Amino acid sequence: MLLRDALAFAVSRLATAQVPSPRLNAELLLRFTLSCDRAYLHAHPERELTTEEIHLYQQALSERSSGMPAQYITKHQEFWGMDLLVGPAVLIPRPETEHLIETVLPLARAGSNSRIADVGTGSGCIALALASELPSAEIHATDISAEALEIARANAARHQLERRIHFHQTDLLHGLDAAGFDFVVSNPPYVGEHEQDEVQLEVRKFEPRHAVFAGPTGLEVIERLIPEAQVALKPGGWLVIEISGTIVAQVRRLLGGWDEVQIIADLQGLPRVAAARKP
Ligand SMILES: C[S@@+](CC[C@H](N)C(=O)[O-])C[C@H]1O[C@@H](n2cnc3c(N)ncnc32)[C@H](O)[C@@H]1O
Repeated sequence: MLLRDALAFAVSRLATAQVPSPRLNAELLLRFTLSCDRAYLHAHPERELTTEEIHLYQQALSERSSGMPAQYITKHQEFWGMDLLVGPAVLIPRPETEHLIETVLPLARAGSNSRIADVGTGSGCIALALASELPSAEIHATDISAEALEIARANAARHQLERRIHFHQTDLLHGLDAAGFDFVVSNPPYVGEHEQDEVQLEVRKFEPRHAVFAGPTGLEVIERLIPEAQVALKPGGWLVIEISGTIVAQVRRLLGGWDEVQIIADLQGLPRVAAARKP
């Protein structure tokens, strides 16, 4: 089969399966199958695919048609300009989470040698972005999931940041130094089970449930994290967490005793990050 024909077939197969942006997905999966860039696809429409390549491409198309996110097929996602490994054990890093990095950086750069804890590190995206931007920061990353930490460690090694980040398999901040941190940052699970129907089917079906859903209301992890962060932070230290519009009012209430509470909106104008300073 010619490359051009394989691509045309794939676009129609993905469109029939109601995959959004079928051409983009067809090209992405063909680039993944052939380990090539987009320019190569366009320069070689007459290239004959091998039987093995056709088989691999069909397999990728059938996974994508079942709703599996392309990132779990290609095993890669970009975050903060870094290519990260991902797999079904971790949440796929979202562009909105870059707002959290943008919030932390100026605060951290105003001080020196920050100690930072990233709670629920998943792929390690937040810890890695902060380690790459803040060369003198000491970073600790926690996750309850051993499989997620394995991926986060692999990402740290790929970016030569493994000596900068200390990984801990633990519940939130358990076992980390009390009053030892300048920053506690986190993109915790914050979706409530009552919101299930509003969550995309792809997310519900393929992303780790404990990474997305916090419990019945969505607040269950954050309401434990806030008092734990209060213990872990030095006086004047910052808590910076990702949130959603559904829980913003409750998060404000939970941050009642904190100083300089700020809610930062994302590009859609929705509340996305809460930052607050320990008195
Ligand atoms: C929403 S994901 C965020 C992953 C990553 N930080 C990101 O921004 O893409 C939440 C992460 O928190 C972890 N997690 C859930 N409950 C936890 C807990 N009690 N203690 C530590 N980590 C937890 C999950 O395993 C998951 O990796």
